[in-house]
Amino acid sequence: MAAGKGTRMKSRLPKVLHRLAGRPLLGHVTATARRLGARRVVVITGHGAEQVEAAVQDFGASQASQQLAFARQSPQLGTGHAVQQALPHLSGDGTVLVLSGDVPLIAESTLRALLQASGGERLALLTVELEDPTGYGRVVTAPSGGVRAIVEHKDANEQQRAIREIYSGVMAAPAARLRHWLGQLRNDNAQGEYYLTDVVRMAVDEGTAVVAQRTTDELQVTGVNSPAQLAALERAWQRREADRLMEAGVRLADPSRFDLRGTLDCAGDVEIDIGCIFEGEVTLGEGVRIGAHCVIANARIEAGAVIHPFTHIDGGKPEGVVVGAGALVGPYARLRPGAQLGAEVHIGNFVEVKNSQLADGAKANHLAYLGDATVGARVNYGAGSITANYDGAHKHRTVIEADVHVGSNCVLVAPVTIGAGGTIGGGSTITKSTEPGALTVARGRAVSFANWQRPKKATK
Ligand code: UD1
Ligand code: MG
Repeated sequence: MAAGKGTRMKSRLPKVLHRLAGRPLLGHVTATARRLGARRVVVITGHGAEQVEAAVQDFGASQASQQLAFARQSPQLGTGHAVQQALPHLSGDGTVLVLSGDVPLIAESTLRALLQASGGERLALLTVELEDPTGYGRVVTAPSGGVRAIVEHKDANEQQRAIREIYSGVMAAPAARLRHWLGQLRNDNAQGEYYLTDVVRMAVDEGTAVVAQRTTDELQVTGVNSPAQLAALERAWQRREADRLMEAGVRLADPSRFDLRGTLDCAGDVEIDIGCIFEGEVTLGEGVRIGAHCVIANARIEAGAVIHPFTHIDGGKPEGVVVGAGALVGPYARLRPGAQLGAEVHIGNFVEVKNSQLADGAKANHLAYLGDATVGARVNYGAGSITANYDGAHKHRTVIEADVHVGSNCVLVAPVTIGAGGTIGGGSTITKSTEPGALTVARGRAVSFANWQRPKKATK
């Protein structure tokens, strides 16, 4: 269900497209449905339907073997009405799992257990006990313990409101029975809505078993309604990921100042200082150290490498960024898609590297740009030097062979090759390839005039 407006978000963006851990709320839910191997994923849209549907296509809500379908619900007359819209897309057999697009952290294992509790023939409800159940549907049980009904807060009497076990909004139902029950829904209740939860009483009345599967993990069934709730859920989720990493031996300077928006794979003895953000797929090798306030996306950082503070590593897809073993990067470095650094490479402050391979031991320590370049082993690339890789229409490569020394403030105009072991004098603009071992200087010769008198202003 993803048709609701999300009024309290006070946003133009439909609620289910707001992000948690870098991914739209609805993306979390469809990813979980996909992992469960659902035959079909039906997304019920309404508010901002076009935008939501386009986003779902974008984040690939189903696998090739699964069908993705959309059902539009307009106007939105309640959760029962929402699921009614999905009926044409559901087959007559199997089990329907109802999920909410704004309850992002529901776990695959919890849903597997719920499906098992349903067993294709029972109505299984995911429930949780809350300190404060205000606003939720209460699970009303018979003295024998069996579930009798779910009563919505607004329809509940005093006695029912005292019940602390609530319905989470997630259920598993036999498809054929659900279809039958939904056909009988009425909206004669406090909100004038078609309640999905009314199917519970129908099941009980016809003798279909109803089971309440209680979870103790509130986080999994917490919905997002406001920016404050979104932030709280984000922090809770981040804390959980931080704990998981620390249990695996990763040393986080402060687990409350750590953000993961993708997957982070760490070998032993990894240290991460405060304020770092990891996005996409990041792998950190044995003993890697990440300094404070780094943003690292889609990168593989090999054993012993050190990333100094305020470095931005922005590997794209599919290229990614590779930082070789023992390399030193930053502070204030920027590695862009296709930057591949060999072992022991040094990239210093205010150096930008894009789509370039640097062989082992190459160094660019200050204020430099390497774009579309192939840099040999042990090259020393001077402060302020750049590869001029773009002629206004095309990108060209610069090849700097092994053991070259490029002085400060040079411009290497691509396409150009600097032969192995060569030296480029500081301040040179190189437009033609140079021979191995040569010293090349391409700048105006210095001319001095002895005892030069600067012009003076005339005095009256
Ligand atoms: C529902 C349950 C309540 C439960 C609570 C858990 C019903 C009648 N009540 O409450 O028992 O405790 O969830 O959070 O089901 N939606 C639509 N179309 C609609 C209405 C809602 O798609 O017409 C979607 C919303 O976008 C949301 C989800 O359904 O993703 C739940 O809606 P919400 O209004 O939050 O739930 P309640 O009806 O208040
Ligand atoms: Mg509602």
